[in-house]
Amino acid sequence: MRAIAVSEYGATPALTYLPRPEPGPGELLVKLIAAGLNPYDWRAADGMLKDTADATFPLVLGADGAGVVEDAGEGVTRLRHGEQVYGFFSDLERGRGSYAEYAVVPVDGPVARMPASMIYTRAAAVPTACAAALDVVERAGLGEGRTVLIAGATGGVGRAAVQLAARAGAEVVATARADADAAVRRLGAAHTVDHTAGDLGAQVLAACPAGLDALIVTAGDTARTTALARLLRPGGTCVSTVWTVDPDAMAEHGLHGVNVDGAPTAGTLERLADLIDAGELSVHIEREAPLEAAPDALARNRAGGARGKTVLRIL
Ligand SMILES: NC(=O)c1ccc[n+]([C@@H]2O[C@H](COP(=O)([O-])OP(=O)(O)OC[C@H]3O[C@@H](n4cnc5c(N)ncnc54)[C@H](OP(=O)(O)O)[C@@H]3O)[C@@H](O)[C@H]2O)c1
Repeated sequence: MRAIAVSEYGATPALTYLPRPEPGPGELLVKLIAAGLNPYDWRAADGMLKDTADATFPLVLGADGAGVVEDAGEGVTRLRHGEQVYGFFSDLERGRGSYAEYAVVPVDGPVARMPASMIYTRAAAVPTACAAALDVVERAGLGEGRTVLIAGATGGVGRAAVQLAARAGAEVVATARADADAAVRRLGAAHTVDHTAGDLGAQVLAACPAGLDALIVTAGDTARTTALARLLRPGGTCVSTVWTVDPDAMAEHGLHGVNVDGAPTAGTLERLADLIDAGELSVHIEREAPLEAAPDALARNRAGGARGKTVLRIL
């Protein structure tokens, strides 16, 4: 099968021909039709997880994907042959990922029926970014009238978080350069602040003079997160997907701080499908490209400036 893989950590991703994986007991073989790109993909290829996972090379890149159940190992009763599924297919230890024609996933792993209202290229963009967004918005304790700043609002996680926070009734302040201002407002942001123009804290206070109840961080460094956390009211919560929170330091200031670390589960994917089918969550596809263009797409994402999701067509 065709796959995009690296021969070692740090190597340039390249088109590679590999044997089709076989599903073992309790596993599904999924014929992938589209893969969604996340920063996780190039980070994993760089070796971000090398201390926690013993990877097999060639390592197929990618995690998110959507396709059709092609085969099932012994004992599989859920998600039968021919079902349209989406999920998280990265398995570093077995060298497997979603930038390939086929992937294997445990049937009780992070795979679920696709949202009925979506086509494969859209569903493939959902798992990692939308699961993280659901997690951060829930942990931020948002509700009617609560104020939240979403730092990184123009990316895959941020766009989903803006929608979910606004649906929860929060007053959303979103970071956006001028070119993305209108897009995040359409998603539900009440205010926008430009993280590249002047004093960000002053812009936030101009929008929310009484300060923030919550801060969701999906971009930027620890210094930026710490500075923005000063805008939180006592008892406020800061949630980060980029490991920029020091929970102990936050606690000393009467704040709750948490770093989110988690891939989607089957349960999360089912909840996301329900939200999507109810029209409460959408994904914006910024770029679609064939599987063979993955190396270029990864380089673009690494360079920054994402304005939604990139999806690779496999079929
Ligand atoms: N912990 C987890 O479980 C988890 C799950 C999913 C994602 N993540 C991580 O969360 C991060 C975001 O993921 P993503 O998929 O949303 O990435 P993405 O689609 O590549 O988007 C990143 C966005 O952040 C913006 N940005 C960059 N620097 C910024 C800053 N200083 N202030 C405000 N915005 C800034 C970028 O726009 P500009 O460059 O134009 O500013 C871009 O729109 C990634 O690092 C990813 O690895 C973690």
